[in-house]
Amino acid sequence: MDKSKLPRHIAIIMDGNGRWARNRQLPRLEGHRRGSEVVEGIAETCRDLGIENLTLYAFSQENWSRPTDEVAGLMELLKYFLVEKRPKLIKNEIRLRVIGQIDRLPESVLRELTKTIYETRHCEKMTLTLALSYSSRSELTEVVNLMVRSALAEGNASRVVREDELDRMLYTEGLPEPDLLIRTSGEHRISNFLLWQMAYTELYFTETLWPDFGRAELEKAIEEYQRRERRFGLTTDQVRAIL
Ligand code: IPE
Ligand code: IPE
Ligand code: MG
Repeated sequence: MDKSKLPRHIAIIMDGNGRWARNRQLPRLEGHRRGSEVVEGIAETCRDLGIENLTLYAFSQENWSRPTDEVAGLMELLKYFLVEKRPKLIKNEIRLRVIGQIDRLPESVLRELTKTIYETRHCEKMTLTLALSYSSRSELTEVVNLMVRSALAEGNASRVVREDELDRMLYTEGLPEPDLLIRTSGEHRISNFLLWQMAYTELYFTETLWPDFGRAELEKAIEEYQRRERRFGLTTDQVRAIL
């Protein structure tokens, strides 16, 4: 692995917990429990490698429509994670951040979330962002509504919005765009995750189910990323001239 060409920001769609459990005739929630255990190791590996930002898709807005007991179990796991991993995040200097419509989370989860975010606010080795109750379309729609409202309040009908203004109003404000997206479990889709932010992200798909995802697989994804040429619309010759 080339340490001088590391992605600054890795985003992961942690998928396949349910299938992992089904393959073992276990309840889906057991898959989620095993999946949540994988998070710590992956976060620490990223931090040790020198990745500055890791964003994990943990719960989508669409996931609220899953069976009530599964949603309740996921919320309990989340709360457990936020309490249990708090000292480790602080020790490892990992700052927690969240993106998503968090006012939909149960109050007890929100309390632990706020506390962990607050207690890790000075940590500077890596930013771990959890996407919770996240929907990229609703994120963008919210921004549009805010803009319409402010244009109306200003009485400015000819207001033109710039791309960078819109960008700064997203939940991801201040985060660099993901360089690498990893999706586990063999699905080849984005599922309403960071649609705007991933305009030029390199996509990496693996058959591995999330509870089986480990350090070796993460390193494989980073190595594959390093073999790619990011052109951002330019030609190869242009890109090489810049480098
Ligand atoms: C990902 O695993 C975790 C969440 C979406 C919360 P799934 O629960 O989607 O697992 P599969 O896709 O059913 O295997
Ligand atoms: C995406 O996985 C959301 C998370 C991993 C949290 P899903 O399992 O919900 O996505 P679909 O339904 O397969 O697209
Ligand atoms: Mg899934």
